[in-house]
Order: sequence, then C-alpha cells, then structure tokens
Amino acid sequence: MSNKMWGGRFATGPDAIMEEINASIGFDQRLYAQDIAGSKAHAAMLAAQKIIAAKDAQKIQKGLDTILSEIEAGKFSFKRELEDIHMNVESRLAEIIGAPAGRLHTARSRNDQVATDFRLYVRDTVDALDAQIADLQVALSEKALAHAATVMPGFTHLQTAQPVTFGHHLMAYVEMLGRDRGRLADARKRLNESPLGSAALAGTSFPIDRDATAKSLGFDRPTANSLDAVSDRDFVMETLSAASICAIHLSRFAEEIVIWTSPAFSLIRLSDAFTSGSSIMPQKRNPDAAELVRAKAGRIIGALTGILVVMKGLPLAYAKDMQEDKEGAFDAFSSFSLVIAAMAGMVRDMEPDAARMKAAAGQGYATATDLADWLVRTLNIPFRDAHHVTGRIVGLASERNLPLHRVPLADMQQVEKRITQDVYSVLTVTASVRSRTSYGGTAPARVRQQARRWLKKLGAA
Ligand code: ARG
Repeated sequence: MSNKMWGGRFATGPDAIMEEINASIGFDQRLYAQDIAGSKAHAAMLAAQKIIAAKDAQKIQKGLDTILSEIEAGKFSFKRELEDIHMNVESRLAEIIGAPAGRLHTARSRNDQVATDFRLYVRDTVDALDAQIADLQVALSEKALAHAATVMPGFTHLQTAQPVTFGHHLMAYVEMLGRDRGRLADARKRLNESPLGSAALAGTSFPIDRDATAKSLGFDRPTANSLDAVSDRDFVMETLSAASICAIHLSRFAEEIVIWTSPAFSLIRLSDAFTSGSSIMPQKRNPDAAELVRAKAGRIIGALTGILVVMKGLPLAYAKDMQEDKEGAFDAFSSFSLVIAAMAGMVRDMEPDAARMKAAAGQGYATATDLADWLVRTLNIPFRDAHHVTGRIVGLASERNLPLHRVPLADMQQVEKRITQDVYSVLTVTASVRSRTSYGGTAPARVRQQARRWLKKLGAA
C-alpha cells in the first residue's frame, strides 16, 4: 500500500527495514502534548486569518482535544507506518473529523512543526529541572547552616591542606548550582522563539500571522529566518551543555561522597536509605547512588557529544539526520532529573562524623599556614621567611610525632626566638577556621551569612 500522506507520488509502500530506520514514533510520541498544542495554535491562526473556514477550525480543535484525551488515557494506538507523532496525530484527526483534517497542514511543514514541538518540550524540561536544582540548593544550604561550624579537612591534591567547615564545603556547590541555573535560564531565553510558520524551509505564500501563534504558545517572538528556524538544533546543544556542566559538578560531589564514606576516611555517613549492601560481605555499606550520579554524568555528556556530531556536517536546511536529536536528549534529561533528585536525597540524608572530621582536619599540619601568618602579623616577618621558619617547626614536630599545637614553646623558640605563648591561640583547627573571616572565607560566621542569603533568595528562609 502506498503511503497515506504522500501516496500521490508513490506507487508502493516502504520496505520493512526502511520503515524501521525511518520511524521515530517509538520515541517522539513523548512530544504529543506539544504537538497538539502547536496544531491547535496553528488551526486557530489559520481561521483568524481566513485561510481556513471557522467551522473547519472548530472541528479540528475538537478533534485534537479528543486525541489528547485518548493519548492521556492510554487509548491511542501509535502506528509505526505513520512514522512520527505529527502524522499519527494528523491521521487520527482524519479518522475522527474526516475531510477538514486535511486543512490543518496548510502553510506548515513537519520541519517547522517538529522544531516547534521540540523547543516547547525543552522549555518545559528546563523549567522542571530548574525547580529541582533549586530544591537541591535548599537542601545544601540547610545542611550548611546546621554545620556552619563543623570543622573538616580542606584538601588540595586530596592532601590535607587547611581546615574548612563542612558548611563551607556544601555552600561551594550551592554557588556552582547557581551558575548552572543561570546557564539553563540563558538557554531558555534564546530557545524561546517560535519556528512555526517557517514551513518547510522558505516560509509560505499564505497570509499567516506568526506573531499570533508565537504568542499563543508562550514564545517571546517568531524566529526571524525560516532556514535557520527549521535547521538548527543549537537549543538542544546549549541545554545539554548546561546540563553536562551541572552533571559534572554533581559528579565531583558524588565522588567526594564516595571518598568521605569510605571507612578509611569515615567523614560522613549515609543511612540505609541511600546505601546498599553486598551480597557476600556483610559489613558493607556501598554508596551506590553516589556512584550512579557519577556514572550518569557520562551518559549526559554522551548525549551532548552525540548531537554535536550529528549536526556538524549538515548543510541547511532540514535533513533526516536531525531526527536523531531527540532520543539522546530525552535520555539525558531524565537521567539528569534522577541525578538531581538522588543528590538532594543524599544531602538531606548525610550526617558528618564531627569528631572524625575535626581529628582529620588537624592531621598533616593543616594549621601550618596559620603559624606562618602569625609570624607575619606578630613579628612583621616577610611571608617567604615565615614560610621557611614554619617549615622548620613542622619538621621538628613531625620528627617527634606531635601536632603543631603540642610543640613546646622552647622548641619553637630554637627556630625563631621571638615566638611567644600567644602563637598557640592560632594553632588549633577551630581557631583556624574562625580566623578565616575574609569575604567568601570559611569562618562559621561567614558560612552562616552565605547560607542565610541563599535560603532567602531561594524562598526557603
Ligand atoms: N520525525 C521527523 C523528525 O523528528 C519530523 C520531521 C520530518 N521532516 C521531513 N522533512 N522528513 O525530524
């Protein structure tokens, strides 16, 4: 049987393998709500412009509403021979309302139709993701406020560097997520233009009103060039880029959770709700959720890479390659959503082991910089010389296996005779974090400020 939609030019139907490679209905049926909304806006505009009769437009609207409820009730049968969501909807419309269905595709092509549907879909997705990321920021800020003064080791090279607070560390992610949301919001702004009415590639000779359809679909304006509108997918690439960057942030955090929960570190604990056991080793509590967050970042980046490569050699305007823009993006968006939710769950669930954290923070002479700073401030020694003096004191402490604040004053004075008892006031980890009061620093008072500012901004204070 020749194809229903373009049977005029075709004597026979497609080979089975042609149908299989060509069909997108298996995945683009997700776009049904956007497709129907786009068609309703288009039909209303066609009638308002007197391109089709008002009574036909009414039948089209009613028919489309029926299809929407059929799909939502799970009563719609999607057919692969009808290729994609656009033709499945249109063909069902013809079954329901007959001849007027054939007027819907006036001044429109599947090329502008799919570009419109997908932009609407990505826009909805960005809005949902943004709300989820904001919730994760709330979880982080609340936990940070509760632990603004909980001292933990700060690392560089994963070697103990200087003490920080757990709250400060968590707030670092709140900042990253703030920029991630900014990138998504920016992508949303740029994608919110309506391709509808660009038709196949050149525009149309019918007196359509593109502003009207743009407005009724919540777009800011119609796209200004019909070729651009049907042939670019930068809105998908940009959104996936923003998602990839955010996923990388979350993957780094997931990696930290894996490290911190390892018994060798034991800095935090996840409850049974966010760990899993081992089928053989009864003692195990594995941070599977964190590991999967880390792994799914790879999948999201893979989807970004996929679309970049699909698009890179395509001449304008539409080519069927572009049908491959959707599956990877759908998968990436749902993986991303799961990743954010799992992260929010883990953040709410995690409890630091404050005693372990504090002990670990003091290991490896983490307050050596505080000693050097004291020498600079109190004895007016240039920092480079202070660094040298401190190095010698650290050497001495390590020979005797003592933490810095337990090295006797007499021994310190052998290295630098002007050192006084006052030096001990800066050598504990608690004193160290308290002293870091510079803007953006780890002092508990600063962390509380940051956390409160964010909670207020997030509407959660
Ligand atoms: N299913 C197609 C896609 O996702 C719709 C556009 C088809 N356009 C065409 N000229 N064959 O890209």
